[in-house]
Amino acid sequence: MASFHSSSACYLFFMTIIFSWFGSDLVDGVAYTVPRAHAPTVYHPSAWTLAHATFYGDESASSTMGGACGYGNLMTNGYGTNTAALSSTIFSNGYACGQCYQIKCVQSPWCSTGIATVTATNLCPPNWSQDSNNGGWCNPPRTHFDMAKPAFMQIAQWKAGIVPVMYRRVPCVRKGGLRFSFQGNGYWLLVYVMNVGGAGDIQSMWVKGTKTAWISMSHNWGASYQAFATLHGQALSFRLSSYTTKQTITAYNVAPANWNLGLTYEANANFH
Ligand SMILES: *[C@@H]1O[C@H](CO)[C@@H](O)[C@H](O)[C@H]1NC(C)=O
Repeated sequence: MASFHSSSACYLFFMTIIFSWFGSDLVDGVAYTVPRAHAPTVYHPSAWTLAHATFYGDESASSTMGGACGYGNLMTNGYGTNTAALSSTIFSNGYACGQCYQIKCVQSPWCSTGIATVTATNLCPPNWSQDSNNGGWCNPPRTHFDMAKPAFMQIAQWKAGIVPVMYRRVPCVRKGGLRFSFQGNGYWLLVYVMNVGGAGDIQSMWVKGTKTAWISMSHNWGASYQAFATLHGQALSFRLSSYTTKQTITAYNVAPANWNLGLTYEANANFH
């Protein structure tokens, strides 16, 4: 008996550790484990690294709207014209969406002294009919920034076409909380995550309705994540992990029970 008691105490002890580490929600006797929020993490800039930059679109940057991250209208969604399309080497299949970079021109007579801070909002796809060193600037393994023209003009004269640059990742400074834009249908919730502070990127995401456990969402494309679930009529909370720092935060009751597709909801929470 004594050994039975001690081993079950031991079992409880370990389960307590496991549950306090991952967090748990007990539904129908089944434990679903999801990461629980860690201590706050602050994202720090990376080292300066050499790459190249070109520009696309015109001064209005209208052709930069609706890029591969799925942010849609960059003006109404707060990204403005300081944006860039990343070559696939650094686009990381969309996980780089929302990351922030400082870029400065180097080693070219066309350089100005400015530093542009841009958000990754698009993919610059490879073009294999062009040589990597003659037009195929975004072909792997090149690290390349195809900047919105207004951003490029902060670092160099547009006549340059292409310039060598130094770049570094920097924390994204955002006003307000994470924003969640809802698409999909009654059985499929597709969420675009915007206005992400700190490292700016998202690796994993979970959604919880008032009547559900935490449901793991899968990466769709760009900055969108999806759950195949019927969540109508339930207030929704979201839990997110940063792609770069792995920090996890929870945004409770982001959308009210009468939420609708096509709308964007702002949380109080954000990364820093
Ligand atoms: C790829 O490069 C070729 C040759 O310059 C060009 O004609 C074509 O339009 C390019 N494709 C894309 C998708 O930009």
